Amino acid sequence: MTAGWFITFEGGEGSGKSTQAKRLAERLMAQSRAVTLTREPGGSPFAERLRLLILDPGLEKHAPLAEALLFASARADHLEQVIRPALGEGRIVICDRFSDSTRIYQGFAGHVEPRLLEALELIVVQNTKPDLTIVVDIPAEIGLARAALRLSVPTAVTPPSEKVPKQPRGLLADRFEARDLGFHKRLREGFLEIARLEPQRCVIVDGQKSADEVAHEVWTAVTTRLLTEAS
Ligand SMILES: Nc1ncnc2c1ncn2[C@@H]1O[C@H](COP(=O)(O)OP(=O)(O)OP(=O)(O)O)[C@@H](O)[C@H]1O
Ligand SMILES: [Mg+2]
Repeated sequence: MTAGWFITFEGGEGSGKSTQAKRLAERLMAQSRAVTLTREPGGSPFAERLRLLILDPGLEKHAPLAEALLFASARADHLEQVIRPALGEGRIVICDRFSDSTRIYQGFAGHVEPRLLEALELIVVQNTKPDLTIVVDIPAEIGLARAALRLSVPTAVTPPSEKVPKQPRGLLADRFEARDLGFHKRLREGFLEIARLEPQRCVIVDGQKSADEVAHEVWTAVTTRLLTEAS
């Protein structure tokens, strides 16, 4: 059994993660590589149900730890049902957000003690850590303005063809998008901090550049760090 590559996209709201995850998937598929494009929270039928609950803008106030456990539950199912089987088949798994988002949203900028999140990550992620994490960096104001304009995100678990389907997103900001600017500025700091602490795994790309330019930076990171090792 050949292990595939596990690539994650991280960063604040509206930075361009979904756009770039999709573009990378399409480019790799154009080279006849087997790709699974997926996302968090969600990515498996059970986890997508939890996603609806977690992101519901009408959800009443609840304990931060309860929320962190929901994320962990969704991730455990996503890993078992989708990510590990795909990697086991030698596929390239591209995941739009993963455990760094939990570290930052719930820990660094949130209300759950980082040591609790570390323990959950050990239990849930185990050794299925990303081989490469692309941090799409953008000032919070710009990302939020873009997110407010956006109408769709990819939701494909495993694209059946070279085209990745899109799904209407709706008009309401989700629970996290709706938080104040200070929260979003802290998210940005947190993602940059992770990239500084784990330079072997993480690459920062400038989300303010055009989508083509960002895609080029992503492709350079992927080919330099992963595909050359693979060939
Ligand atoms: N480099 C870019 N320049 C300008 N606009 C962009 C760029 N990349 C993406 N966009 C647009 O910005 C909006 C947000 O992009 P996208 O949905 O990819 O961000 P995201 O990081 O996935 O956001 P979220 O965290 O909310 O899921 C979309 O309307 C997209 O078309
Ligand atoms: Mg997105």
